[in-house]
Amino acid sequence: MIDRRNFLAGTGVLVSAGVLPGLAVAKAGAQEFDLIAGPVRRALYEQQLSDLWAYNDIVPGPEIRARKGERIRVNFRNNLEEPTSIHWHGIRIENAMDGVSGLTQEPVQPGDSFIYEFELPDSGTYWYHAHNKSWNEVGRGLYGPLIVEERISTFDRDHDITLIIDDWRLRQPGVLDTDSFGSLMDWSHGGRLGNWLLVNGKSRPVLKLRGGDAYRLRLINASNARVLELDPNRFGGKVIAYDGKALPESVVLPYSPHLLGPAQRIDLMVVPDADFTIEEISGDQPFPLVDGIVDGISRTAQSTPSIPVNLIPEPDVTGARKVKVVMEGGAMGGFVDITYKGKRLEGEDFRKTGQSWAFNGIANLAEAPLFTVRRGETVLLETINQTGWVHAMHVHGHHFRVLSRSGADVDDGKPWRDTFLIGPEQTTEVAFVAGNPGKWLYHCHMLEHAAAGMTTWFEVS
Ligand code: C2O
Ligand code: CU
Repeated sequence: MIDRRNFLAGTGVLVSAGVLPGLAVAKAGAQEFDLIAGPVRRALYEQQLSDLWAYNDIVPGPEIRARKGERIRVNFRNNLEEPTSIHWHGIRIENAMDGVSGLTQEPVQPGDSFIYEFELPDSGTYWYHAHNKSWNEVGRGLYGPLIVEERISTFDRDHDITLIIDDWRLRQPGVLDTDSFGSLMDWSHGGRLGNWLLVNGKSRPVLKLRGGDAYRLRLINASNARVLELDPNRFGGKVIAYDGKALPESVVLPYSPHLLGPAQRIDLMVVPDADFTIEEISGDQPFPLVDGIVDGISRTAQSTPSIPVNLIPEPDVTGARKVKVVMEGGAMGGFVDITYKGKRLEGEDFRKTGQSWAFNGIANLAEAPLFTVRRGETVLLETINQTGWVHAMHVHGHHFRVLSRSGADVDDGKPWRDTFLIGPEQTTEVAFVAGNPGKWLYHCHMLEHAAAGMTTWFEVS
């Protein structure tokens, strides 16, 4: 296995990040976008071509940018050799558009098309990704940013920068390791971890910034399983949003590092006065992600913009519907007995299924929902992690408040999120108001864990 620090040492090339390629826009009721999924050969490392799957032939896929309150229509075509669908991560969406193969829609077959059309009720930093065998499809490149601007933009386009980060597993001589997709070792341990981090598909891109200007950096973790460790204080970044949901005011993080789990987002405001580097700091030596170069000085005195918050129904925990989820399994974890596809299995029999994790003793999607709730009811969801592993738990179609977390750092002020991290032996309580009717997933966003048992669903009627 290539060590990612050594790999890094091999490149001295700086590539300019610039602005992500956008999509042509046709105006008329809904903004229209075309997305085509298909195979492509692209370099992830130097000139070595990897076999990837991409939207519109680029990884990450094109940035979809629209405004809060608008409708978008995405004409999707599947040119892959396997079925797929697209999920719009973090959007409070109509259920039929949520893009979950096998739950909210039939997967789109090779050569077929599907039209996604929905409203964008909240501004913020979101993303879209494949949602059929995501461990494989997302891991090969099927994802892109979805940016919903405020009704009146707070940062202009030059000062609003998307940084979508992915953790690739390369093998010599620097190509995507496709043989290890589906490795049961990954599924029962920490998921598919890579050895090479790219931002906007590039190694260590350079941002040219004007000193004294305020910039919004939208960081998205598109990794299959890597929890990124970042320290915004090292470069003077203040937090303005978690998972796309703006905070009432920007905050300086009182702790380090900030853990950005798979699928999570953090928006930072940076007013640079000198060159800086954004780094992933988990290793013994930091891994540089992005270089900010101060190029010129602001001509105008800047006030730092503040971002209007979204109005999300406030959970009322008195009389809430209480739901408890006990997470178990994984390597070194023990099971008593587990139900998988409606059958009770023990020990070896369970292991032979390739499943490795369970919620409340049930591995993966069951026929019946975990719970049902009426629209407008508050759900108080208590998740108890009895595994020896960290997980990134995502509720589809809803934003929740993180009410309490035992153990580790709590993000300030009961923030709204759509994905939360939970460490071993931790318990986390989140609450949300049941929104649109339909079938919604609750799963671990470490995509190997989701495939190996950590997926359940609930129904809003
Ligand atoms: Cu971002 Cu079910 O996923
Ligand atoms: Cu997990």
